Amino acid sequence: MGKQKKAKPSLTIQKRLDRCRAELRQRGIPAYLITSRMDQIYLTGFNGEDGAALITSRGVHIITDGRFEEAFRLQIPWAQRHMRQNSLAETVAKVCRKLRLPELHFQPDDVTVQENAALRKACRPTRLIGAPPIVTHMRRIKDRSELKKLRHAISIAEAAFKAAKRKIKIGMTEIEIAAFLEFEMKKRGAMGPSFPTIVAEGKNAALPHAEPGQRRVRRGSLILIDWGAISEYYCSDLTRMLFVGKIPARLAEVYQIVLEAQQRAIESIAPGKRVCDVDEVARAYIAQKGYGAEFSHGLGHGIGLDIHEDPRVKYGFTDRLEAGMVMTIEPGIYLPGIGGVRIEDDVLVTARGHEVLTHLPKSLASAMIQ
Ligand code: GLY
Ligand code: MN
Ligand code: MN
Repeated sequence: MGKQKKAKPSLTIQKRLDRCRAELRQRGIPAYLITSRMDQIYLTGFNGEDGAALITSRGVHIITDGRFEEAFRLQIPWAQRHMRQNSLAETVAKVCRKLRLPELHFQPDDVTVQENAALRKACRPTRLIGAPPIVTHMRRIKDRSELKKLRHAISIAEAAFKAAKRKIKIGMTEIEIAAFLEFEMKKRGAMGPSFPTIVAEGKNAALPHAEPGQRRVRRGSLILIDWGAISEYYCSDLTRMLFVGKIPARLAEVYQIVLEAQQRAIESIAPGKRVCDVDEVARAYIAQKGYGAEFSHGLGHGIGLDIHEDPRVKYGFTDRLEAGMVMTIEPGIYLPGIGGVRIEDDVLVTARGHEVLTHLPKSLASAMIQ
């Protein structure tokens, strides 16, 4: 009988673990407890919904429960498994004792006050310390496998939108359109929508994050649709406007302003640029056209395993763009009692500038439906 091959992480996962460990070493962190599910998926490939990953210089310890035992065996047989019978804190404490850890660094953003207290108490004498956002920081720059997944999540969302657009008829409710769009995404392999789909008709579109309801499409409707698909855990995020039959002159003007602001901001994207300066390109143009107060949110945000992640593309944030970042660019103008216009695309920062990953048309003519 030949020797059994020892299970190993994939090359992608190994690279991420190596980078994470280099950071931990540099910061003098002996053990890092990851409780964020998306960070865990990113760093280990294990998608169990219950659990945590404890990373040391030599091992990856997964703490989970019986529902995910088989998933563990299939996904990361190379890691060490600790099945949780009681609370997460007690199982983490057991691992700390076994490894004789003097301190354990955890993710303060991801742990409740209660969990924090339970962990501190159970793990004694191991000291609990809040860690800097190491994995979150790594996730800002997408590698090749992530870009492939993002592109796929975008292509699903775009194909579903084209199918839904053909079906929109006078009399349909916002909720029906949202459901239809989500169905079309799932039909094409999406795990689900990246966030509850926004379909906002008429003056509902003046609310940047409106909830779809029973408003119906009618002749002359303006409809704001903000949607995205999750594919292999990666999220796409787009917004398009539709105008049914005709478009009031004021909204046509606002549409052109938002479109021009978005195009100017996208053109300014390049490595080294500060995110607040990209925001300012769109904001200054909209203000110059007289709608500064009606653009009430940041210009965009990173997308990836989470729908909103770093970098935030917003006033007050001074991070510099780096090749491999993927972000939305989504200026909007919202007019209470009338409606609103937002246009959103997903953009990759490249070594030389940028690449717009979304391809749905966005001219005013393309937004008209009968
Ligand atoms: N759909 C949420 C957003 O655009 O940020
Ligand atoms: Mn969106
Ligand atoms: Mn967005």
